[in-house]
Amino acid sequence: MAKIHEITLIPGDGIGPEVTGAAIKVIEAAGVKVNWDVVEAGAKVMDEYKTPLPDYVLESIKKNKIALKGPVTTPVGSGFRSVNVALRQAFNLYANVRPIKTYEGIPTRYEDVDLIIVRENTEDLYAGVEHKIGDYAAESIKIITREASTRIAQFAFDMAKKQNRKKVTAVHKANIMKFSDGLFLECARNVSKEYGDVEFEDMIVDAMSMKLVQNPEKYDVLVMPNLYGDILSDMAAGLVGGLGVAPGANIGDEISVFESIHGSAPDIAGKNIANPTAAILSGVMMLRFIGEMEAADKIDAAIKNVLKTGKALTVDLGGKATTSEFTEEVIKNL
Ligand code: NAI
Repeated sequence: MAKIHEITLIPGDGIGPEVTGAAIKVIEAAGVKVNWDVVEAGAKVMDEYKTPLPDYVLESIKKNKIALKGPVTTPVGSGFRSVNVALRQAFNLYANVRPIKTYEGIPTRYEDVDLIIVRENTEDLYAGVEHKIGDYAAESIKIITREASTRIAQFAFDMAKKQNRKKVTAVHKANIMKFSDGLFLECARNVSKEYGDVEFEDMIVDAMSMKLVQNPEKYDVLVMPNLYGDILSDMAAGLVGGLGVAPGANIGDEISVFESIHGSAPDIAGKNIANPTAAILSGVMMLRFIGEMEAADKIDAAIKNVLKTGKALTVDLGGKATTSEFTEEVIKNL
């Protein structure tokens, strides 16, 4: 009998419930049995619990070890720092893995892009060490440690080996931030020596941005500190069709949380027009992680097929299909 998986589901804010709803429909239609432990977080629970991340969310994830998460709104400037950053730090989800891939049928200027951004997820300027200096200045402290930098470099190389990828590029700004980014680069270089069969290079983040726009197909696995990973992954998503098609995973040693790169997209929330591809593909990454390879391959192939025929493209990709129409089309193609 098929295994029943226990998985935490955080629908999230804005388009979150629409796109995670699509993902669970597709996962179930592919034959995977899941007991979803649905827990609400974000803006919608703020009034009742006085925090967007109530304890029951953390407890559910701790118990199930795997979560599928929709985006959660983070207020700008003041208030609770960020549910996402808090979750990543609480469970030491140190590797943020973001595959960027061209799919036939999606209108883009590029072909054959197939790279993975591996973003360090626990430190850098996202450690949240900030203070004001009177009323006239503010400081944010960028924390880079040998331990976290070595761990993320090893993760990137291990992944490159496992997936038969040829090259790892470490992205940094060590020419200016000689101590912090210098340490990150030193750790990546040291780790690269243990993986002789994977090519290694490093690139300054500004040059990397230009080269990614010029020739993204030349890159394979990119590993970088938190802030550059945040920015470059949205940019790279733009190369292959936008945030609507870019999935992701936050991986730790014991717990993993799967979520798209995109946010809660308040501008299109509740209209049934969000592209659920990123959320469904995050689900595919989750299925591979829990060993449901056949279902994962089936869903991936169905998405490829639907995009290729161009029959049910959502508005962000220049089509007219709604979130539900695209989802139904994927299910039909399973
Ligand atoms: P966003 O990613 O929500 O939206 C940026 C643009 O991309 C918008 O025009 C939006 O309509 C479009 N877009 C995003 N996802 C789409 C999809 N699936 N289909 C079609 N179009 C899509 O970024 P924004 O507006 O900067 O952030 C909104 C909120 O989301 C903020 O509160 C932010 O903090 C939060 N956020 C949460 C994340 C998470 O929970 N992991 C990640 C990024 C942002």
